[in-house]
Amino acid sequence: TPRVFSGIQPSGGLTLGNYLGALKRFGETQDRGDMPTIYCIVDMHAITVWQDPEKLNRATRELTAGFIASGIDPTKSILFNQSAVPGHAQLGWIFNCVARLGWMQRMTQFKDKAGKNSENVSLGLFAYPALMAADILVYHATHVPVGEDQKQHVELTRDIAIKFNNDYGVDFFPVPEPVIEGAATRVMSLRDGTKKMSKSDPSDMSRINLTDDADAIAKKIKKAKTDPEPLPETLEGLDGRPEARNLVNIYAALSGKTAAEVVAEYAGQPFGSFKPALADLAVDRLSPISTEMSRLMQDPAEIDRILAHGAEQANAIAEPIVRRAYQIVGMVGA
Ligand code: TYM
Repeated sequence: TPRVFSGIQPSGGLTLGNYLGALKRFGETQDRGDMPTIYCIVDMHAITVWQDPEKLNRATRELTAGFIASGIDPTKSILFNQSAVPGHAQLGWIFNCVARLGWMQRMTQFKDKAGKNSENVSLGLFAYPALMAADILVYHATHVPVGEDQKQHVELTRDIAIKFNNDYGVDFFPVPEPVIEGAATRVMSLRDGTKKMSKSDPSDMSRINLTDDADAIAKKIKKAKTDPEPLPETLEGLDGRPEARNLVNIYAALSGKTAAEVVAEYAGQPFGSFKPALADLAVDRLSPISTEMSRLMQDPAEIDRILAHGAEQANAIAEPIVRRAYQIVGMVGA
């Protein structure tokens, strides 16, 4: 049976990349209503890099508010934080024993994050993709909506599911599909069209944060790097113009149009007129979200109730799957 799972780390604030690559699509998937949807604030992933405990608390609640403000309805989707459901860590350990060291060493996100000083990063950062596989497979999820940067991790999840099934001669875990769709599966930095928009970029001008006010959004878009050419007549005209392509993709994703439609609409116009239109569109779509997030953040107890309820529902699915996995592996008492 099909089931959707995805997660976001509560480490720092949300960016336009998280919104277009993940949150917006999570809401659309939920609203299609053809598959049950489970969305998770992955706090255990966040601590693979040290987090100030109070900030982690706040970031978890703020991310929950971000999910709800982006259209995830906790009466339609299961919304919870990872650490509240023990099955993630339990299955994560089994997967640490299924995954091979060589698989992990090939993960580009680890190589990027660890840099040259990989002796000094946490063991958890290295094992991270096995925990991510557990997040998905502990619900027997089949569809995983993510941005382009998470594709390799979902492919590793497939390898883990297949190896577990082979090692134990069972047909227990489904082999999940990454779902990477839409105009903005890889939103780029506003300062450098070859770099991903990221909450960890030192320059705040490189990204739009979901908490930015209208002035900040407009300013960042006006100052976004572009080349001196006007918008092209056709989509092919964006080849070799990463900054121009990025702004077109953002416009397309925010407006629900295709990139080709946006190019047709603005063909031959200078960025001097496209950018204000993009800024207006972004403010129009994003400011209701930030307003709703601040409203929700005024009642943290209500957020905690929503998370606790979601955790209960998630646990009801995960617990029997973990028990069965334990039995398959040969654990007495499971
Ligand atoms: P995280 O927290 O870095 O990002 C959350 C989601 O946002 C997407 N994203 C982007 N999409 C387009 N353009 C960008 N610039 C951009 N930046 C981020 C990410 O692709 C992701 O979908 N490992 C995951 C969290 C995770 C997870 C899971 C996801 C843990 N367990 C199980 C799916 C299923 C991560 O670090 O995402």
